[in-house]
Amino acid sequence: MCVAGVLGTGSALPEKVITNADLEKLVETSDQWIKDRTGIRERRQAAPNETTSSLSVKAARLALERAGIKATDLDLIICSTISPDMPLPSTAALIQRELGAHGCCAFDLAAACSGFLFGMTVAEQFIRTGASTRVLVIGAELLSRYLDYKDRATCVIFGDGVAAAVFGRVEPPSGILAHELHTEGQYADHLFIPAGGTAMPASCQTVEQGSHFIKMRGNELFKVAVRNLEDVSRKVLEKAGLTTNDIDLFIPHQANQRITEAVRERLGLSSEKVYSNIARIGNTSSASIPICLDECAQTGRLKKGDLVLMSAFGAGVTWGAVLMRW
Ligand code: UT7
Repeated sequence: MCVAGVLGTGSALPEKVITNADLEKLVETSDQWIKDRTGIRERRQAAPNETTSSLSVKAARLALERAGIKATDLDLIICSTISPDMPLPSTAALIQRELGAHGCCAFDLAAACSGFLFGMTVAEQFIRTGASTRVLVIGAELLSRYLDYKDRATCVIFGDGVAAAVFGRVEPPSGILAHELHTEGQYADHLFIPAGGTAMPASCQTVEQGSHFIKMRGNELFKVAVRNLEDVSRKVLEKAGLTTNDIDLFIPHQANQRITEAVRERLGLSSEKVYSNIARIGNTSSASIPICLDECAQTGRLKKGDLVLMSAFGAGVTWGAVLMRW
């Protein structure tokens, strides 16, 4: 059995910055409230001509270059997104076309904010079993296209961004050591977009009612998130026979700085071991963990041999964790 690990990463953020002061002009909120309750100061918003696939291609090209491979070397592309370019074809197919990665398989994966970890887990199993040798996993979200800029409960949190990682065989002790994924559909209506699918097809009425925008019960999600993130983090450590003392870097999904703090405290980790970029880019859903990973890889925050724990939670609800030796 071979071990799967990261060969290269890349990310792409839209240029336009939306500050808390900008949002103060749109909804009844304040810079102070947003900073205190979420830790967010600003987030990015895609330009009208940018799409989930166009930003993904930018991030993917960087990841391929840093992995030292060509697009045609890929045998699988997984795009984790809940904000695809269009219902069909998959965003992964559009990315494949643009990259010229002919001959490989490509599909989308929908697990919301946990999606990149779901994608990593699929990639790891394709590589470990020998079914694939080079897998590109992308976390890509343009949630601004699904935000109601009259709903202060959601528009202050989410931002746009994309990141990609190429996975392939690595030499132990590097590589993915353990993973654990969960879904619990009984909380499906805590975070959802009612219209635009088969349950409520798009119509003039759905647009008038704003039913194609994200609806969130943030408060309920908060409690489930903290509990499950702690639990799943402990489970992957146990699977690998390691403890929280072994962790060099914890990259949690950047949902809310207060969630990160609560999980950090429960796991007994010092602040220096926890990565956070939520102040600069907000909650980018499935792009959040790979953007962090790319920033840590590029800035040297991650060093060879470091043990990195990644945990995420999102709509579905879904949650999961991956433990990896860099
Ligand atoms: O990405 C994965 C899935 N998402 C999450 O995990 C999100 C988890 N939830 C959260 O991050 C937080 O629940 C929020 C940031 C969404 C909300 O923070 P909260 O501290 O849970 O606020 P709340 O919903 O309990 O509301 C507290 C008060 C309410 O006013 P009253 O009823 O106390 O008068 C809200 O109406 O804050 C009000 N409020 C706001 N005030 C100013 C809610 N949103 C805002 C706002 N600006 N943007």
